[in-house]
Amino acid sequence: MLEGAARRIEAALQLERREARLEARVLAARALEVAPAWLLGHDRDELRPAQAAALETLVARREAGEPVAYILEEREFHGHLFRVTRDVLIPRPDTERLVEAALERGPTQGPTRALDLGTGSGCIAISLALARPDWDVWAVERSPAALVVARDNARRLGARVRFQEGDWFAGLEGQAFDLIVSNPPYVAAADSHLLQGDLRHEPRSALASGPEGLDDLSRLIEGAADHLTEEGWLMLEHGCHQGDACRVLLNQQNFRKVSTLADLAGLPRVSLGCRPFKGCRESLQHTRIHT
Ligand SMILES: C[S@@+](CC[C@H](N)C(=O)[O-])C[C@H]1O[C@@H](n2cnc3c(N)ncnc32)[C@H](O)[C@@H]1O
Repeated sequence: MLEGAARRIEAALQLERREARLEARVLAARALEVAPAWLLGHDRDELRPAQAAALETLVARREAGEPVAYILEEREFHGHLFRVTRDVLIPRPDTERLVEAALERGPTQGPTRALDLGTGSGCIAISLALARPDWDVWAVERSPAALVVARDNARRLGARVRFQEGDWFAGLEGQAFDLIVSNPPYVAAADSHLLQGDLRHEPRSALASGPEGLDDLSRLIEGAADHLTEEGWLMLEHGCHQGDACRVLLNQQNFRKVSTLADLAGLPRVSLGCRPFKGCRESLQHTRIHT
C-alpha cells in the first residue's frame, strides 16, 4: 500500500525515494486515521474499500502537485502544530532561525514588546508568545484571510497575541517595540522558482517583492527605526543571496551592530541591527557574518 503510493509520488514530482516514502506515510496515516508510526509495522496490510478510496484521493492530489501541508491543512513549526490553508504561506523550518534569534536577543527581564510583521499563519508571533508568555506580542498582516488563520492558530494553541490588519507600519503610529521581526516577501517577481514545486500553490503576495525581491525588505528597514525602543532590534529573514544587500540597507539607515546570521546549512538568512542613535548620521561599517 505504502510502496505503491510512494512510487506514484516519486514519479509525478521527481522526488527522492526517501522523501516520497515519507510523504506517502503521512498521507496514508491521514487516510487511515492512524499515527504515521503505526504504519511502520502495517504498511502491507490490506485496506478496506473506504480506506483505499480515501488514500487514493490524497495521493492523487499530491501527484497533481498540491503541497502536503495544504492537503493535511497543518504544518509543525517550532514544536507546535499550525493550521494552514491556501491563504497563508506554509511555515518553513528556516524561519525557526528567526524565532531563535529573537528569543536569544530579547530582553530577559522587564516588560518586552515584540512585533511580527507579515504574520501569515501566525507561526512567528505565536511561537514567540508561547516561548515567552510574559512578552506583549503584536502581529500585523495585510491579508484579512490570513489573519483569520493566524487568530485561529493563536486561539487553538493558547497564545496571547494582538493581531492587527495593516500595511507594514501604517497602523502602528506611536507604538515602539523592543523587537521587530519579519519574514517578508523577498523573491524576485520574475524568479522562475515561483512557478515550480510548492511555491506555485502559495499566495504570490506572500512571496514576490519587486524586481530584486528587495522592495518589502527596504520598506521595513526604512520604517523600523521610528518603531523601535532605544536598544530595540530589527531582525529580517531574507534569501541566501540577499545578506549583503540587507546589511547595506541597514547601514544606510544607521542601524548599529549590523550582522547576518547563518542557518543550519551555513547560508546567510537573517540580517539584524539595533536601532540607530537619535540624530546619528554616520553609518557604522562593522558588518560580519556569524556561522
Ligand atoms: C513570506 S510570508 C511570511 C508568513 C509567516 N510570517 C511565515 O513566516 O510563515 C509574508 C507575509 O507578509 C504578508 N504581507 C505582504 N505584504 C504586506 C504588507 N505590505 N503589510 C503587511 N503584511 C504583508 C503576506 O500576506 C504574508 O502573509
